[in-house]
Amino acid sequence: MLRDGKVWIANTENGENVFLLPKMANRHGLVAGATGTGKTITLKVLAESFSDMGVPVFLADVKGDLSGMVLEGADSEDMQKRIQKFGLAEAGFKYQKYPVTFWDIYGEKGIPLRTTISEMGPLLLSRILGLNDLQRDILSIAFKIADDNELLLVDTKDLKALLNYMSENSKEFAADYGNISKVSIAAIVRAVVSLEIAGGDKFFFEPALNIRDWFATGTDGKGMISILDSTSLINNGTLYATFLLWMMSELFETLPEVGDLDKPKMVFFFDEAHLLFKDTPKLLMDKIEQVVKLIRSKGVGIYFVTQNPRDIPDGVLAQLGNKIQHALHAYTPSDMKAVKAAADSFRENPAFKTADVIQELGVGEAVCSFLDESGTPTVCEKVKILPPQSLMGGIDDSVRDREIKGSVLYSKYFEPVDPDSAYEFLERKGIADAKAKEELEAKEKERKELEKKEAQEAKEKEKAKAAEDRKKKQAMKSVGNSVAGTVGREVGKTVGGTFGKFGKTLGGNLGASLGRGLLSTLFKS
Ligand SMILES: Nc1ncnc2c1ncn2[C@@H]1O[C@H](COP(=O)(O)OP(=O)(O)OP(=O)(O)O)[C@@H](O)[C@H]1O
Ligand SMILES: [Mg+2]
Repeated sequence: MLRDGKVWIANTENGENVFLLPKMANRHGLVAGATGTGKTITLKVLAESFSDMGVPVFLADVKGDLSGMVLEGADSEDMQKRIQKFGLAEAGFKYQKYPVTFWDIYGEKGIPLRTTISEMGPLLLSRILGLNDLQRDILSIAFKIADDNELLLVDTKDLKALLNYMSENSKEFAADYGNISKVSIAAIVRAVVSLEIAGGDKFFFEPALNIRDWFATGTDGKGMISILDSTSLINNGTLYATFLLWMMSELFETLPEVGDLDKPKMVFFFDEAHLLFKDTPKLLMDKIEQVVKLIRSKGVGIYFVTQNPRDIPDGVLAQLGNKIQHALHAYTPSDMKAVKAAADSFRENPAFKTADVIQELGVGEAVCSFLDESGTPTVCEKVKILPPQSLMGGIDDSVRDREIKGSVLYSKYFEPVDPDSAYEFLERKGIADAKAKEELEAKEKERKELEKKEAQEAKEKEKAKAAEDRKKKQAMKSVGNSVAGTVGREVGKTVGGTFGKFGKTLGGNLGASLGRGLLSTLFKS
């Protein structure tokens, strides 16, 4: 709870208050401990204090037990004992509820939280789709092509349409974007289909989350607590981790540089944080480290919650200034190493051996260290964590339903919208291209038919001319014959008449023969 403008989180065994300084809250933190040791309650106490300061908070609710923050805490004998032990009543402790907005990627236990394929980006999307390096590179090219052609990638069908288009036109794209393997594209499309089958098509849709909507306060000035129901999402660890990572990078990209402030602009709790680092490719790992490092100057504090601090890679762990370590058990040599590693990450307190204490802590107890005014980690303390003011545990569906529908953001995000994006554009383009192709083919066919007809006509003309020529020749030949005959006969008659019967015959034949020879020579030439 908030005390003197600071986050009062616990008391030492001597009853001294232990604080987290709001101005150091953007130096990130870690809440670790075995199952059932009190991590979630610690998280609630921290979140309540930030909300009291008017700082918005984001929490992923993996077990459904964070949802109780929307209701007042319930009184009990155990709570009365704690209130007394911590001297909470004098400090103004009261059971109270907090302004909560419930979100759910599946849209069942919260306002649908969606994003678009474009906003997720190729790196995170490759992680969700389980792509290899080559496929990831091709997905990056797909994003570049979409960018260059102003194609909106909103949902999975946009992505599939673009990938298929790339596959069909891979030769044309090769000049500008390099070789695009059709086999790799087919593998990416298959991964997208698998995601759709698993229900993943629900969260790539409009209206996409505007992360600025998280920066709200309740009517009482308390910072809005955005709770992402992750009870289903956690079944797919990679999807869960990638979505949270996307939100973190959205915050990073959306918020301006602010340097060190008196209190953070937002606090982001990353529960089951080990999933973020499990089998994470180097490229993504580097990005996580970079975001964690730089987001601080944007006023965002990231708190990783996990069972074992060894789950967090050294590069990230080194950046977590505020640490709360609940009990860890050491049954095996490997467990012992984990305890030792956890203990070594603290500044030793000469009053006790950290590694021993970590194993002896009861539920709701912890070893902790926070950054002081100068940014130096305090010597670690053994503490008891305060109880929360809101309800410990979850809520029933009717309360949740009431809260979801009562949110001012419900009407903004509830109905999915399918905008005019890459799929629609490429479909129209496909229809237009097919029509243009059809028209071109029809024209070509028409042209060929015309050509064929003209050739046919020319041939027939030629044929007709040849026939006519032949006819003419024939006619001339007949004329020649008849003229020669007549001439011969006439000559013969005359000769015959002159030389008698013998002479007539001889003359006729001779004349005819002479005439024929003369005429045929004339016509042939
Ligand atoms: N600070 C506290 N004040 C009062 N009760 C607490 C406190 N911390 C833990 N408890 C009690 O212990 C129970 C378990 O704590 P919690 O749910 O926070 O454990 P956890 O570490 O989150 O476990 P898991 O890893 O299973 O999620 C709580 O339901 C609550 O009854
Ligand atoms: Mg828990």
